[in-house]
Amino acid sequence: MDPDIPFSRPRLTGREPELVAEVLRSPRWSGDGEMTRRAARLLERSLGGGRALLTSSCTDALEMAALLLDLGPGDEVVVPAFTFVTTASAFALRGVKLVFVDIRPDTLCLDERQLARAVTKRTRAIVPVHYAGVACAMNEITEIAAPVGASVVEDNAHGLFATWRGRPLGSLGRLATQSFHDTKNITCGEGGALIVNDPTLVERAEVVRDKGTNRARFFRGEVDKYTWVALGSSFLPSELTAAVLVAQLEAAEQIQSARQRVWATYATGLASWAERHGVTLPIIPSDCVHPAHMFYLVMPDLERRTAMLAHLRTRRIHAVFHYQPLHLSELARQWGGRPGDLPVTERIADTLIRLPLYPDLEHGDQARVLDAVTSFIP
Ligand SMILES: Cc1ncc(COP(=O)(O)O)c(C=O)c1O
Repeated sequence: MDPDIPFSRPRLTGREPELVAEVLRSPRWSGDGEMTRRAARLLERSLGGGRALLTSSCTDALEMAALLLDLGPGDEVVVPAFTFVTTASAFALRGVKLVFVDIRPDTLCLDERQLARAVTKRTRAIVPVHYAGVACAMNEITEIAAPVGASVVEDNAHGLFATWRGRPLGSLGRLATQSFHDTKNITCGEGGALIVNDPTLVERAEVVRDKGTNRARFFRGEVDKYTWVALGSSFLPSELTAAVLVAQLEAAEQIQSARQRVWATYATGLASWAERHGVTLPIIPSDCVHPAHMFYLVMPDLERRTAMLAHLRTRRIHAVFHYQPLHLSELARQWGGRPGDLPVTERIADTLIRLPLYPDLEHGDQARVLDAVTSFIP
């Protein structure tokens, strides 16, 4: 039975068909053409100075980061255990040792207080995930990374248009990654970007993205033929994908204001119910501006989470849980993860619920969600 109210639905801004048709009428459908450049410039405008390289997913961008930092066996990379699989797998693919750390109970971001213990002289990268687009404690993370020479790679899959102390998320690490998967605020179905904030890495990032070749330099007329110059792969999206992204980025203000309205309606409508029933709502520190990517409930326990999800399903509302602890995953257990190691991650994985949030969630439908949630007595 399909839900009446989906968890997520991309907004069709109206410009997508026109821009895709523009590409289809052109002689170039493959990547790194005019639409790719337009999308990248729009992104760069929102991201405060870094160079944006479009990719086919955030996963691609993370894999590019691992290649670009030249990581390999003997190196260590610190990631939160409460994140999407590819935050970790992108680095594991290069043969590094993953070090999982717990998250903060308030923002659900990598807990910087646990970082000092996790970092060694072999740590080459730290990957903070700005959960729900709420910033990690970037000062502390940067201060711990710098003395061991570790690069900070922001996994900013959720955080486009968010800020920390007035600075855009995605501009704070040496590298950052974005996602345009269709549950994200800005989407082209599947898509992503690597944001290169260290100018010394830009040229090699172009090479890594383009199969390890210097074809970008060839197209700019800087070399008279192109060849294989480094390890890379095929990470470029096509111009068709980029065209959808241009349409979405051009409409970012409308998309964001609609999402903010939905987010604020949840926050106001659920505050007193949550307080009465021991449910936690998102906590936004005063130095963070969030991007209305996600509205979640943290239920008192797994039983009540399961019951709430079932209750919403009977009302034909699609709400979802989120990440399972990576240190306890089937693959990562072989590296020694044990239940109880990372208690906040394990509790949040059992208790968090994400509510439907999309720009065209109509007022009446959102009222139905609010009524369904508040009629559940945990
Ligand atoms: C924190 C995080 N990182 C990376 C990804 C991967 O994004 P993509 O689907 O664009 O590869 C996701 C997916 O939702 C995510 O939540």
